[in-house]
Amino acid sequence: MVVMRVVESPATVAPHSRPSWSGKGQIAIDNLSVVFGDNPKTQHIAVKDVTLDIPAGQFLVLLGPSGCGKSTVLNAIAGFVEPTQGRVTIDGVVPEGPGADRGMVFQQPTLFPWRTVLDNVAFGPLMTGRGKSAAESEARTFLEMVGLSKFATRYPAALSGGMQQRVGIARALANYPKVLLMDEPFGALDSQTRVMMQEGLLKLWNEFRITVIFVTHDIEEAIFLGDRVVVMGTAPGHVIADIPIELPRPREHAVLFDPYFARVKRQCMELIRVETMKAFEQQGEEK
Ligand SMILES: Nc1ncnc2c1ncn2[C@@H]1O[C@H](COP(=O)(O)OP(=O)(O)OP(=O)(O)O)[C@@H](O)[C@H]1O
Ligand SMILES: [Mg+2]
Repeated sequence: MVVMRVVESPATVAPHSRPSWSGKGQIAIDNLSVVFGDNPKTQHIAVKDVTLDIPAGQFLVLLGPSGCGKSTVLNAIAGFVEPTQGRVTIDGVVPEGPGADRGMVFQQPTLFPWRTVLDNVAFGPLMTGRGKSAAESEARTFLEMVGLSKFATRYPAALSGGMQQRVGIARALANYPKVLLMDEPFGALDSQTRVMMQEGLLKLWNEFRITVIFVTHDIEEAIFLGDRVVVMGTAPGHVIADIPIELPRPREHAVLFDPYFARVKRQCMELIRVETMKAFEQQGEEK
């Protein structure tokens, strides 16, 4: 593995003033391996021996070529995928399947099309037993944070892709998760919207400082957002580099022109290029 200096998280700030925000969310991934399939001849090792200690409040980005197991690691944290070996703990506890303590945002918005924007965001609070008006009031607060108060009564189909993703983020946050898991959430957006979404996400994170694990293919996005960029290699998926991003916050897009940014970008490009070539060679040998 390259550059193995694990960064301390930025100062873990006091939890958000809302009483229901736990403010924790330390994740320990110990020797995680995930194998898909039971038949030894056809089974596939998606992830092998991934170990990561993620302090509460850290913004960690998982970067790597297609098929290297980024989503599998994220899904193991979310509880959608069972580790074949090793374990994942959240604040020292092995979670039993998916839970509201781990909010998830996917590449394609997964809003309920038959519910209004407000009802989509209020859904989580309602499920925790809050009354309708309390849940709606909570939902309005989060919609305001993502700048969509005026769209509360619309249905998802009447929103742009970027707006739907903002609703998805508001919906995830309305459950007050300890951890926000984001799987290429801006991957389907145009580059301008993407930049706005990245800056907006950092503002939200700056307020709540919950732990974020953000998956992307995009090297600039990774460096712009992360406290730390973990680069994964393929076949099987494993960690090849753990790079602290020592850019001051708050960050704006002008930082992309910083010489430090360019150096880290080059390092990541080289790592991913080597991995992609290895994957191509292996595929060639398998023919
Ligand atoms: N349910 C599954 N059954 C069998 N194989 C799977 C399953 N899910 C993932 N895989 C395989 O595991 C490997 C890792 O997949 P994963 O989706 O985690 O990669 P990824 O890094 O997220 O890729 P991408 O960037 O394309 O989203 C791939 O080879 C994939 O084909
Ligand atoms: Mg994926």
